[in-house]
Amino acid sequence: MQELKVEKLVKRYPGRDQVVAVNRVDVEVEAGEMLVLLGPSGCGKTTLLRCVAGLEDAQEGRIVLEGKTVFDSASGLNQPTHLRDIGMVFQNYSLWPHMTVQSNVEYPLRARKSSAAERAARSREVLQVVQCGHLADRYPAMLSGGQQQRIALARALAPRPKIMLLDEPLSNLDALLRVELRAHLRAIHRELGFTGIYVTHDQIEAFNLGTRVAVMNAGRIEQLDSANNVYERPATEYVARFLGIRNALALRRETGWVSDAGPLEGQMQVLDRHRGPLQMFVRPQALHLSAPDAPPADPGHMALRGGHVVDVLYSGGEVDYVVEAGGVSLFVTRPISRTRFQPGDAVTVSLAGQDALLYADGRLVNEG
Ligand SMILES: Nc1ncnc2c1ncn2[C@@H]1O[C@H](COP(=O)(O)OP(=O)(O)OP(=O)(O)O)[C@@H](O)[C@H]1O
Ligand SMILES: [Mg+2]
Repeated sequence: MQELKVEKLVKRYPGRDQVVAVNRVDVEVEAGEMLVLLGPSGCGKTTLLRCVAGLEDAQEGRIVLEGKTVFDSASGLNQPTHLRDIGMVFQNYSLWPHMTVQSNVEYPLRARKSSAAERAARSREVLQVVQCGHLADRYPAMLSGGQQQRIALARALAPRPKIMLLDEPLSNLDALLRVELRAHLRAIHRELGFTGIYVTHDQIEAFNLGTRVAVMNAGRIEQLDSANNVYERPATEYVARFLGIRNALALRRETGWVSDAGPLEGQMQVLDRHRGPLQMFVRPQALHLSAPDAPPADPGHMALRGGHVVDVLYSGGEVDYVVEAGGVSLFVTRPISRTRFQPGDAVTVSLAGQDALLYADGRLVNEG
């Protein structure tokens, strides 16, 4: 069942350079799923969440929660936030400083007129879920950032909202805490099974937490798919770049295929299905290196000759090589193995056709 449906939503902010923060967005979120909105700063993630919550008024479109329309520009319907069954967690915790942890968590229940005993029982329960049962009597100022964020989460969960909106809830925390709380959030989501929209610009967080991932670009959704598909098959060049796929080569067809870094040789079936210019993206882990006089790493590979190693960086179990070919820098990540190259070594760079992501006019054209 769809818990949330957003249709053709438009939100413009007035002003001289009128910004279309959300531009005809369609999204459907299934019950129990965690949809992650991923995208660079200013692409409209927060605005979209705030429209769903009723904290911003959109100009066009429709929002349906659990089958009930809560916003419809055509009929002028616009339900206020407190009538939408939504819990929210923001980046900056926003706990009431003058209230204890327990009072903070009970606050949204008070508005719903539950009894004191019910409120106490429920706050105990959600504080257990976020592993902060022992902090009930403290004030927010006496808590670490990670604890404050857990309390903010507990407060949002307390009224058992159908939908949780989480806007970069971990981005104020240090790296270690983020990793810990991310895992915890994943477990809480599994345990409670709420429907969530989670905003982040951190792709590791997105792929860790998202059942599906929507990548946004200037107010629009550029790709919405399973986390796996977004990672493996970025639908557009924009998504490939946003995911930080570092090797990008413009390819054109002459007598054979020529890249910015020089001609390509070998098994070109993947490219030969196309005529026009292509943009090829390859992850550093998918590039191989071999010595110029050695056979290619695999006879089925496409190869680019004439490169040389300009830098070698060791990081854990891997080696990152920076290779220059025809004035273009390529990034190659290999496991530490016996064949190692040094700065100045001549190398041939090769890749399997299936690892090339090919784009024509900005859109993915190959099927892997
Ligand atoms: N109150 C406002 N008035 C005018 N313009 C706004 C307002 N809030 C946001 N904007 C503009 O709308 C666009 C989308 O902003 P939004 O806050 O939704 O981005 P975001 O994706 O959440 O970015 P970030 O990752 O930095 O939080 C931006 O261009 C922003 O400058
Ligand atoms: Mg934001």
